[in-house]
Parts: sequence; structure tokens; C-alpha cells
Amino acid sequence: MPRPTALAVHQVARPAGAPTADDFAFVEESVPPLAEGEVLVENIYQSVDPYMREEMDEGGWELHAPLEGRTLGRVVESRTPALPVGTLVHHRRAWRTHSVVGAAGATALPGFAGVPLSAHLSVLGGTGLSAWVGLTRIARLQPGETVFVSAAAGGVGSAAGQLARLLGAGRIVGSAGSAAKVRHLTDRLGFDAAFDYHDGPIADRLHEAAPDGLHVYLDNVGGDHLEGAIGALRDHGRIAWCGAVAQYNHRSRPPAAPRNLFDVVGKSLRLEGFLVRDHLDAKPELYDFLVPHLRSGAVVPDETVVRGFENVVDAFLGMLRGANTGKMIVQLTDAP
Ligand SMILES: NC(=O)c1ccc[n+]([C@@H]2O[C@H](COP(=O)([O-])OP(=O)(O)OC[C@H]3O[C@@H](n4cnc5c(N)ncnc54)[C@H](OP(=O)(O)O)[C@@H]3O)[C@@H](O)[C@H]2O)c1
Repeated sequence: MPRPTALAVHQVARPAGAPTADDFAFVEESVPPLAEGEVLVENIYQSVDPYMREEMDEGGWELHAPLEGRTLGRVVESRTPALPVGTLVHHRRAWRTHSVVGAAGATALPGFAGVPLSAHLSVLGGTGLSAWVGLTRIARLQPGETVFVSAAAGGVGSAAGQLARLLGAGRIVGSAGSAAKVRHLTDRLGFDAAFDYHDGPIADRLHEAAPDGLHVYLDNVGGDHLEGAIGALRDHGRIAWCGAVAQYNHRSRPPAAPRNLFDVVGKSLRLEGFLVRDHLDAKPELYDFLVPHLRSGAVVPDETVVRGFENVVDAFLGMLRGANTGKMIVQLTDAP
């Protein structure tokens, strides 16, 4: 039987500062015959994520080699009874049109009627799980509390705002990088207040948006956002530190903020970082909580879907610059 040819993306240079398309190359790969226990997956959706920027630095991804990332696809050839042809799977051999994966590296997706497949990369995937874990396990958000979410119009942020509402938050404040995103937060996603972080000091914007102070901060940005939030948190407030996207292009340069870190002591704050991969056991909790709300329409998977594998690099670079609203996803082929 003729073997399909896969188109793949490799990283070919290490960026100094913001990456460019020249740091990547498209390469053709022949797909090898399957060994016992392997499947061939035709990839349908791929996630592009901020952590990938960190992988581009020395010590991360190898140059001129296959890359990784979260991907959804359909099994088109199988040498394991565990994953027959037609099974929809999640795996991490991304940045290519077809992937050969061992059965242990691919997970059959639960089919939730009425929920789009792409949700397994957005609200029901690692992105939504990060928001869930940050709010419930790390910050332990309580009903009635005021929560601030940064990068609020992104994947984790848009999930966090909607989850915080369902968890009974009293007031939900978000920051994002444009007036259009601010309107999206308040008009579509149910945030009580939102601001564009380009519009002056974060501390001033937070004082206007949450005059009685914050109980919880879900930090996706770091730097001046973290400094502003430390200043706005009430005594015994909690920070769930999820990411620091403002820093990823400048990892060799120490961030100028936060300058008020010692207020963590003065206000008896709790600041706790977390990695979602250490909380994969929370997935069933998230499914139980969220799937009924997705089916009822109370929660919308907020996604920017870029079509065509040839646009995967642009989608990744665009996400780093804020071109996405909600989770940035690349669609390679038609979804079922
Ligand atoms: N701890 C974990 O396990 C874990 C898991 C997943 C994600 N994360 C982290 O969560 C954060 C969000 O990830 P995501 O996948 O949901 O990405 P995302 O928010 O969908 O996309 C990144 C967003 O960052 C914003 N941004 C870029 N540069 C910025 C800057 N200098 N200051 C403020 N905002 C900036 C852009 O939106 P604007 O237009 O608003 O600037 C962009 O849309 C990232 O820090 C990521 O590393 C952590």
C-alpha cells in the first residue's frame, strides 16, 4: 500500500527576542511502516501555546528535528486493537500532518454529544484544565470573592473567567491587550470589568475595576501585572501563578517587576505556581463540571481557529502577539 507523505515543521534557528517565520522550515517526511502497537494518525487540530516560545530557546527543542505539541486526530491505520481505525485521539506529536504514535502516547477522546471536537484543545483540554486547577486547587476560589485574570481574552483566561462565574465569584476582572478584547470580555464572556493593559499603570486600572481589592489573582502574564495585583490584593489573598507570557521573549533579562514582592509577607498573601501536567487527575472533575454547561450553552469554547497546516507558524507567532481571541487552534483538515 503506498505510504502517505507528511508535511512537518522543524525549528531551524534560535530566536533572539521575538521569533519570526525564518526560525522555522516546512519539510516533507515519508511516513514509515507501522510497528506492532503503533497507529498512524491524520491530524485534525493542533494547539499552539506560549510555552513553545520557551522551548525555542537553548535547552528546549532540538533544531532540525520533529517538534511536539497537543494534537487531535483520527486513526487511519492501526496495529493495536486498543485504537482501531476511526478512533479520535489526543497525542503530542504535533507540527505535522500525519503522526505515527505508540498506543501509550495516544489517548482515545471521550465523545461528548453536542460538544465540538476542538473543545478538547480549549476549555476541556490542558488550557481549560489550567484555569480549573488555578481557580479550584491553587487559589481555592470561594463564592462571592473578587478575582482578577490576566491575558483574560486568551485560552486560559477566557476559560477562567467563565469558570469563575460558575464557581460563584462575586466580581470578575480581566485585562487584555486591546479595546476589542476588553469589549469581548465584558459583552460576551461575562466579566464584570475589564481594561486594556496599555492604558496606564495596572495598579490604577485595578483600583478602578476592583475598588474593594482582590481576593484571588490568576496570573498568566507576570511582570507589571503581578506587581499591580500584589498591590491590589486584600490581606490573605491568593495568587495562582500560571504563566508569565510577558517574559518569554526575554528570558535572559531579569524582569523589572514585581518590585513589591515583599508585600506577600506584609499582607499574608499566598503565591503558588503550578504546572497543569501535575494535575491531570483533575480532568474527570473538569468534565463532570463543565460538559453540562457546554451542552446548555452557558459556557462557550472561546477559540480562534486558523485553517490550513501551511498557516501553523503564522498562527503560533500571531498568538504570541495577541492575534487570538480565546484559544488559538490550527485546523489541518475537516473535523468530524
Ligand atoms: N502552568 C501551566 O501548566 C500552564 C498551562 C497552560 C498555559 N500556561 C500559561 O498561561 C498563559 C496563557 O496561555 P494560553 O495558552 O491561554 O495563551 P493565550 O492567552 O491564549 O495567548 C497568549 C496571549 O498572551 C497575551 N500577551 C502576549 N504578550 C503579552 C504581554 N507582554 N503582556 C500581556 N499579555 C501578553 C496576548 O494577548 P493580549 O492581546 O491580551 O496581549 C496573547 O493572546 C501563558 O503564560 C502560558 O504559559 C501555563
